[in-house]
Amino acid sequence: MVTDRQRQGEGGGQKARCGGRPTTIKSLATFVPPRILTNADLEKMVDTTDEWILQRTGIRERHIVEPGVATSDLGTAAALQAIANAGLTPDDIGVIVVGTVTPDMMFPSTACLIQHKIGAHHAWGFDLSAACSAFTYALTTASQFVATGAHEHALVVGADVMSSIIDYQDRATCVIFGDGAGAVVVSAATDPHDGRIIDFEHEIDGAGASALFMPAGGSLRPPSHETVDKRMHYVKQEGQAVFKFAVRKTEEIARRILERNGLQPSDLSLFVSHQANRRIILAAAEKLGLDESRFIINIERFGNTTAATIPLALNDAVTGGRLKKGDLVLLASVGAGFTAGAVLLRWGL
Ligand code: UT7
Repeated sequence: MVTDRQRQGEGGGQKARCGGRPTTIKSLATFVPPRILTNADLEKMVDTTDEWILQRTGIRERHIVEPGVATSDLGTAAALQAIANAGLTPDDIGVIVVGTVTPDMMFPSTACLIQHKIGAHHAWGFDLSAACSAFTYALTTASQFVATGAHEHALVVGADVMSSIIDYQDRATCVIFGDGAGAVVVSAATDPHDGRIIDFEHEIDGAGASALFMPAGGSLRPPSHETVDKRMHYVKQEGQAVFKFAVRKTEEIARRILERNGLQPSDLSLFVSHQANRRIILAAAEKLGLDESRFIINIERFGNTTAATIPLALNDAVTGGRLKKGDLVLLASVGAGFTAGAVLLRWGL
């Protein structure tokens, strides 16, 4: 028997983690709210400049919801399109996994709300909390249900309304985040020409919890006048600590999954990293020896949309002709927790 420790250990030659029948991403769709918040808009709200934001983060603009629009609304739009793109109907979906840190409310789950809104009458589902790694974790989780044969089609949604938990008086965080959603349908790979979810590698490190978190609103510090007065219902981040961890861990987890599969970074057609900061992606890509033809950065137009960055980047890669059927793709994410994830796949669309 191969233990988890052996799989993660040095030496290579370990087995890929994906068992059961092969699975694939059968479709992809994204949705962002139409309203745009530009760097010029932010200059009027906090002490910042377009130049600083662009240089330090690579972001020009981000999409922001109108009041009353929630994560389930963005997720529903992406989900309906993904299901249609797969040539399916909502009734074909067996399980829904929603990655988000901005659920519509503490409960019921956003998965329940999306299930009802799309009319997926045969689906069960749940939310998954992994911050910026939510899409890679949700993809892996959903894929297991298809691999075991428990379900034929699983819906994965990565959606966040970050503007609902961002302090627009804090220049260190408000310039970074945006709102958006992405969805994929995961199905059994029945044809050799189908794509393939090949392997995954995930880890968490709770020692990083205080580097990126929302202090109040949970069971530890329920909402009170004091928590509101102290602005504790907003994202707090030690930017530099997270930045350094993200660069190091992105490279480390990418190398680990590639080595386990006997691959080099140069074997990748495309490296699709979580989009938190242009400089993080450039640094990680440089450490991996990837030139710019092998990774995608689209943070300029969306900012950091947390659970939605990877599907948004995949979508831009497809529409820009950067991602084709048969390509070997590595998804990688690092986020609050800390969480880190990588999914290796053969693109099949
Ligand atoms: O997706 C989840 C994971 N999150 C991340 O991966 C984010 C990781 N961190 C980052 O992307 C970067 O650390 C930030 C973009 C958050 C900050 O960039 P930085 O280059 O690390 O800046 P810093 O925090 O070291 O701050 C440098 C200076 C400070 O001023 P002083 O103390 O040198 O006078 C900040 O107050 O930049 C100042 N600053 C700003 N200035 C203008 C911070 N935010 C701003 C701003 N406009 N918006």
